[in-house]
Parts: sequence; C-alpha cells; structure tokens
Amino acid sequence: MSLISEIDYGTPRARTEKTVTLTVDGASVTVPEGTSIMRAAMELGTKIPKLCATDMLDAFGSCRLCLVEIDGRPGTPASCTTPVANGMVVRTQTDRLKRLRKGVMELYISDHPLDCLTCSANGDCELQDMAGAVGLREVRYGYDGAKHPNPGLDGSNPYFTYEPGKCIVCSRCVRACEEVQGTFALTIAGRGFGSVVSPGMEESFFSSECVSCGACVQACPTATLNEKAVIEIGTPEHSVVTTCAYCGVGCSFKAEMRGDEVVRMVPYKDGKANRGHSCVKGRFAWGYANHRERILKPMIREKISDPWREVSWEEAIGRVASEFKRIQATYGRGSVGGITSSRCTDEETFLVQKLVRATFGNNNVDTCARVCHSPTGYGLSTTFGTSAGTQDFDSVEHTDVVILIGANPTDAHPVFASRMKKRLRAGAKLIVIDPRRIDLVRTPHVEAAYHLPLRPGTNVAVLTALAHVVVTEGLVNEKFVRERCDWDEFSDWAAFVAEPRNSPEEVAKVSGVPADAIRGAARRYASGGNGAIYYGLGVTEHSQGSTTVMAIANLAMATGNIGRPGVGVNPLRGQNNVQGSCDMGSFPHELSGYRHIANDATRAMFEALWQTPLDKEPGLRIPNMLDAAVDGSFKGLYVQGEDILQSDPDTHHVSAGLAAMECVVVQDLFLNETANYAHVFLPGSTFLEKNGTFINAERRIQLVRKVMAPRNGFEDWEITCLISEAMGYPMRYDHPSEIMDEIARLTPTFAGVSFEKLDKLGSVQWPCNEKAPEGTPVMHIGGFVRGKGKFVITEYIPTDEKTGPRFPLLLTTGRILSQYNVGAQTRRTANVLWHEEDRLEIHPHDAEQRGIRDGDWVKLVSRAGETSLRALITERVAPGVVYTTFHYPTTQANVVTTDYSDWATNCPEYKVTAVQVAPSNGPTEWQEKYEDLARKSRRIAATVEAAE
Ligand code: SF4
Ligand code: SF4
Ligand code: SF4
Ligand code: FES
Repeated sequence: MSLISEIDYGTPRARTEKTVTLTVDGASVTVPEGTSIMRAAMELGTKIPKLCATDMLDAFGSCRLCLVEIDGRPGTPASCTTPVANGMVVRTQTDRLKRLRKGVMELYISDHPLDCLTCSANGDCELQDMAGAVGLREVRYGYDGAKHPNPGLDGSNPYFTYEPGKCIVCSRCVRACEEVQGTFALTIAGRGFGSVVSPGMEESFFSSECVSCGACVQACPTATLNEKAVIEIGTPEHSVVTTCAYCGVGCSFKAEMRGDEVVRMVPYKDGKANRGHSCVKGRFAWGYANHRERILKPMIREKISDPWREVSWEEAIGRVASEFKRIQATYGRGSVGGITSSRCTDEETFLVQKLVRATFGNNNVDTCARVCHSPTGYGLSTTFGTSAGTQDFDSVEHTDVVILIGANPTDAHPVFASRMKKRLRAGAKLIVIDPRRIDLVRTPHVEAAYHLPLRPGTNVAVLTALAHVVVTEGLVNEKFVRERCDWDEFSDWAAFVAEPRNSPEEVAKVSGVPADAIRGAARRYASGGNGAIYYGLGVTEHSQGSTTVMAIANLAMATGNIGRPGVGVNPLRGQNNVQGSCDMGSFPHELSGYRHIANDATRAMFEALWQTPLDKEPGLRIPNMLDAAVDGSFKGLYVQGEDILQSDPDTHHVSAGLAAMECVVVQDLFLNETANYAHVFLPGSTFLEKNGTFINAERRIQLVRKVMAPRNGFEDWEITCLISEAMGYPMRYDHPSEIMDEIARLTPTFAGVSFEKLDKLGSVQWPCNEKAPEGTPVMHIGGFVRGKGKFVITEYIPTDEKTGPRFPLLLTTGRILSQYNVGAQTRRTANVLWHEEDRLEIHPHDAEQRGIRDGDWVKLVSRAGETSLRALITERVAPGVVYTTFHYPTTQANVVTTDYSDWATNCPEYKVTAVQVAPSNGPTEWQEKYEDLARKSRRIAATVEAAE
C-alpha cells in the first residue's frame, strides 16, 4: 500500500463543451475552452512549477513561478491565469524561464526559515518541491534581510496549528476559506513584508469565525497550516480511500496512515459527493475509534442492576442465542425483534433484517430511520414511485432558485452547504422556510431572498399556500403536468389548493408568515428558472411529516421542476447511511428495494435464496415493540449501533419498554444510554475497521474500506452471522462483497452493483441495473418511476400538540456543526470544545418575561416530562419558540418530547412540543438519577477494562 497522491492540475476543470487545440513543448493537446495553459500542460504530464495555484481554487496569479513563453506574444505570462487558444504554441522550459523561476524561488527562500530537517512538512511541502523543481542551488540575497512577521504559533485550534513564520503569503488558505468553504474567516492583513494571514480581527483560529473544515490546511503548500497529528506522528506513508461515517453527505476521504495508525483524514478530490471538501467532523473527529471508553470485550449480566461481567465471544453469543430461543419458546415467535442502524453499512443492515426475518421468523425489524426520514419514504414513493431524493449533489450547480425547508445544512450537512453557498454566491436565489433564523438566511455574501419563519407545525399550510399562488396566478407548468402526471388527480388537487382557505392571507393567520412573503416566494420558485427543493428533519418529524413531503412533491410537479439537472426534491439525510438502511429492507413491512413483505412473488424470491419460509405479516415498528414490551408480549431485542433511549421520543416510555424486556442485546462502540437496560453488550467496530458500503442522500453507493483491524476482533456483520449460526440458521460469507452480491440478486434497483464495480467507478447511484449499468444521477427523466406523477391532496390538520396557558412555548430541536446525533462519537473527540453542553435557545422577549438571563439554568417542562439545561438568549428563534440540540445524554431533550407521531409512518413529532420554561437551580431529580445510573455503568466498564 502506498500513499495515494492525487494529481494537482493547478486550476479547476473548464466546464465547456467546445474544445481548443494547442501545442505545449511540441506536443499537441485538446482541452475544453477556458482551460488554463497550466492545466493543459498537466494533461500532457508536463508539470509547470507553481506555488499559488491548486486545482481546488480559481487561478490567482501571484507567485509568478509558472511563467511560460507563447509564440507571438510578448513577455512571459503566468500559465495559471492565461487561458488556452486554438493554435497556441507554448514553451515551458526555456533558459529564460529557468532563470526567471530560479530568481523567484531565491526571493521566497531568502524570506523563509531554513529548518527543513525538523519541519513537520518535510517531505510533504510544495515550497521544498519547487526549490528542487527549479534547480535552486544558491540564494544570492542571503537569509539575513527583512522577513515576514512571525507573531508566534497559534495552536488554539485543537486539530491544526498556524505558524506564520513559514507563510509565503500565497493566499491559498484565504481563497480556500472563501471559494471552497464559503466562510470568509481569513484575510491577508498588512502589506508587503508586513502581510500576514489573519483569522478575524487579531483573533486566534479558535475564537474566530473559522469552522475548522480544514480546507485552508489542505490548501497550504507549506507547514504554516498543518495538522497537529502530522506534527506529533510524522508524515503519512500509505493511505486507503473510504467514506465518512457521520452525515448523509457521504464525503470520500483518504485515511492517511503510518503503520496501522491513522495520521489524518484528507478529503478525496475524486469523491463525487464532496469533490475534495470536508467538515470538522469527517476531517478531524475520528479519534473516538481509540477512545479509552470504547468497549472491546463482550459483557453480560443477569439483571440490569447487576454489574457487567466480561466474557468470551462464545459465551456472549451463546447467551444471546439461548435467551432469544427461550423467549420465543415461552412467549411466541413474535416476542423478539431487532433494530438496524443508519450508522452501519448496507451489508450489516441487510444481515440484521435477514436475521430477524429468516432466523427469528418474524418481521419485527425497524431502523432508526423510523425517527427521521420514514415520511420521505412514504411521501416520495406515493407521489413519484421511489423512496429517495431525485438528484445528485452536482445538480445544485444548475439551480436558479433553492427552497430550503426544515433543514440547516451549514450545521448538519456542511459540505453540501458549501456547494450550495457557492451556487448562491454565483447568483441563485434562496427561499428559507424555517422557524429559526438559520445561518443561510444571512451569511457572508449570501442573503436569502425570502425567509418564511413559520410557526412549528404549519409546514403543510405554508406549502399549500405556495401551491395556491402557483395555481391561482397561472404559474402551473401545464405542459409538464399534462405529459407527466395524472391530469384528473392534478385537477382535484388544483381545485383544493385554490380554495380561499388555502390562500396566503388565510394561512398567514395560522403560520405567522406574512402573506406577501408567501406570494413572493411562490412566484420566485415557480418562475425563477430551475427550482430545487432541499429539506430535512424539520419536514419529516411532524404529525404531518408524510403529508409535508407530498406537499413538496406536488409543488415540484406543478411547476415542472422534476427530471433534469438543477431541479428536484432532495431530502438531506441525517445519518451517513439513512438511505441505505431504508433501501436494505429495515422496515417491518418491506424487503430490500421497498417491496412489500405481503407480495407473494417478492417473498418467494427471498425464500428460495434463503431456503426458509418468511412471514407475510408486517412486523412491529420501534414504538410498537416498546408498547408490546410494556404490555408484556415483547421480551427480547437486538439493537445494532443505535441508542434508542437517547434518540427516540418520550424517554420515560422507552426506558419502561426496555426495562420490561428479558433480554436486551446492545451492539455498539461505547456503553451507550440504551446499554443501561441491556443484558448483553457486544462491542462493535468503527467505520475504520470494516469493509462495506454506505449510501448517501444522493442514492450514491460508496465503499467503506477497512484501514485497520477491528479492535474488538470482529466486523459488525460477522457478529450478526455468529448470532444467527448459534440460533440454528447459518449465514456464511467470507467478505461483505458477497453480501452485496446477495443484495444485488434480490433487489432489482441494485442488480448491477458489486464491489468490483464500485472499486472501478468510485461510486454509483442506484438504480443501477441493466438499464443503467453505471447508475442514475438524476431520476424521473422523461417519466416517473410509478408511471404518472401523483398529486395528493394535502389537507392541513393542526397537530394535537397545542400551546396553552400551561405550556405556552413551542420547542423544536436540531443539530450543531461540531456534534453528531446523540454525540456518542463526537463527544469523545476535541469537538466538545465547541459545544460542551446542549443549551436552550430562547428569544430575549420570552427570557425577560420569565426573568431568565443568558447562561441561567432553566426548567423545560412538557406534558411528557421535564428536564433542565442552561439558557442561551438569542434572536435566532422567534418569540414563542425555543430550540435545543440533543447531543448530550444529560440534557435528556427527549424526556420532554411527546408520543405524537406522523400519521403514516409513526415518525415522532420531535419538532413540535408545547413547553413551559422557568428558572431552575440545576439538573432535575430524574437527570441526576439517570446520570448516576449511566455513571455506574461507565465505572464498571472502566473497571473491567483496567482489570485486563
Ligand atoms: S478551517 Fe475552514 S473555515 Fe477555518 S479558516 Fe480554514 S478554510 Fe476557513
Ligand atoms: S498560510 Fe499557507 S496557504 Fe495561507 S498564505 Fe500562508 S503559505 Fe499560503
Ligand atoms: S459533511 Fe458529513 S459526510 Fe462530509 S465530512 Fe462532514 S460529516 Fe462527514
Ligand atoms: S502558480 Fe501561477 S502565478 Fe502562482
């Protein structure tokens, strides 16, 4: 294995169809019009020396190292900023050029500390390389002259250092922060020898606007910005390309290693989801893999009040098998079930549902997508025929108007947010529909054309009002609707949305959004060119989640914004493999590829391959499993990679359900909160320790490659196989690629997928089959998967969760950039420095009314329960709305969320809870009791670890 070194073409690829042909050093090359001479030369393998250029950034032309000669033109232009022309004759290696380049390098080196041998970038430094490339042998000006200022090392960022003494002021970092990340945190302060890179107004990196995406570090050609891990461990020597295990963007990374130690994760330029960019989580927050709290040995206990006892894998697997068999013999076949995880690979997820259906003999399998995107599956399959987003991420580059509803991508999907911001900076318009003033409403060089700050729970009303404007103002794309959709259903829908009660003026009364803003936004979306809708959990996690998804689909169909680049309906998936876990048949009523379990032909296909009969009745969903447990009929649960106690709503109900079971098996990296109720703990493996695939929000299937041996001894899929074998149904595979082969045999949309193809193409977007052997970037081109697009009437039905004198405020929840989901991974990294606790955001007016000051402990009470956390007073939330994240178990945000859920899918209504907020003295009794229990479990695990 060697270090993967990607070619740097110096300037970005030109995106034109027209080509031009030129000659470089006597060789002919044909490239797209607009390509730089530097890039054209590189296409021929000719490396022109450069320092300020890199192909992730637009050409800048400051270092003057890349000079060339062009026949018929005077002087020596910079090849990075000079575009090619037909018939151009370029020379890159003349004596004059060599002399000039040496002179430039002499100036750079005379201003540079000569400590290469002890420098952390030694061997990985472009300045060093260029000195070699131009044949620098002497520096005529000496080293004692004036130098750039060196205000000293800034080590404030936990992951990288800034050492200004080594800066060559190439501006690559500043431009990366602007062009790639879109944060504009850096600037070059001062002039001439006084110029220096500055994060904000004399701030440190940590206290600046920097979001630690790492783009500047990656762009820096010297050791000035460098990863602390490289400084500590040394430069990497080999690398493996894999996929980030955090959010649904699915960024590709090179895991760069020394021996079996990961030194750094570098975003992979060939990664089609991220195109070489990253965020603070994927780039830096992978250290949890080596965290001391990680459990590496299986443990069992008789009762949940007993201490854990470390046991062999044989004993642990034997206990799981014998307990599940005993429970089924005593309480019936349907008394056990399993939960798959959106954090695990497709292959692992597929095996858990196979275990439940084939080995347990029931369909009691569900996934954490139940609590996030199950309405997406229902809504999009009803209207379009496929449970997935319609576009690839590249599509946003062709978008003219973006509607962003119920999503906060700069925090939850940062790399896609950067791509979206780039498009917005280029002129696309943005409509934000969100109760909070999210960053994208106004961020450097981006300002939303409309922000509709609706009351939580009124999505359907607002979307129907947008449709009202489209229909009543003649903005329907009738040609599209007549050709592509069911006209009768459209007519019924159009008559419904046109009713006066759905007008912006009426809807303003329930949603709080001014009517003229709704009208303006609707007109802009319908007539502003390519319109794309992106949405998140602020759409799905409602009692009308599925209705909202269908309202979005209606709007896109009515305006003809489906079936080509730049348009579409795009759910931004929360966890890395939400799409995959749903695709793999994790829902109780569906086999892989969203085929109903009651369909005899589908079942027969699985039964033939699996050699066992399958139950045709859909099984229990997560909330039903917990209800049945409380009722006494559900007794055993296998949970792979999920922490339902922390992530599911109504924590009291979840804990009551778990406590009522006789065998709870948790397979995870750490003793999570659910493990407090477990009888068997099976240590899991991290994404760095396994092979498999993840599927991102674009339906993109990407390889997860093992970079180190599993520290617990097994990859997660192997553990599922061991349980199945111990229960009498052997599932044998030598490698996850064989599991994917089985998925491909059983699932028409995956028929053309194999590890070999993924290796060759890098990734594919399903459907991938005979019709689309290399996958499908944009869906529904020329026709919907279901045939005719289906318009669905979306009656607004207010949630039963109402504010009133007891609970006058509405609580909504979400994420923050540095943390991920329940925080099990990110809380075990330096990311905690940015977010040490969950806070309750409250508007100054509401805070003042209650005598609450910033930072005060407050009590958050709903009809489901109460918790305490500290207040953050901010105008990001509107009066009457409060907001919190749920990254810390001690916050127990889900103690207050209710048991209301989406009518179609049971997805919990996390985004609307009526609450009261009052000053408090600190954590509640429940939080203290709960934390005590968790502390005890952790202490026991640490004791076991220490005893080894
Ligand atoms: S880490 Fe990212 S946000 Fe921070 S300064 Fe560098 S490029 Fe900008
Ligand atoms: S910090 Fe690095 S990238 Fe930024 S100007 Fe200095 S040398 Fe260039
Ligand atoms: S955007 Fe998502 S997938 Fe990409 S690095 Fe960040 S967390 Fe990972
Ligand atoms: S690389 Fe062209 S001027 Fe710097």
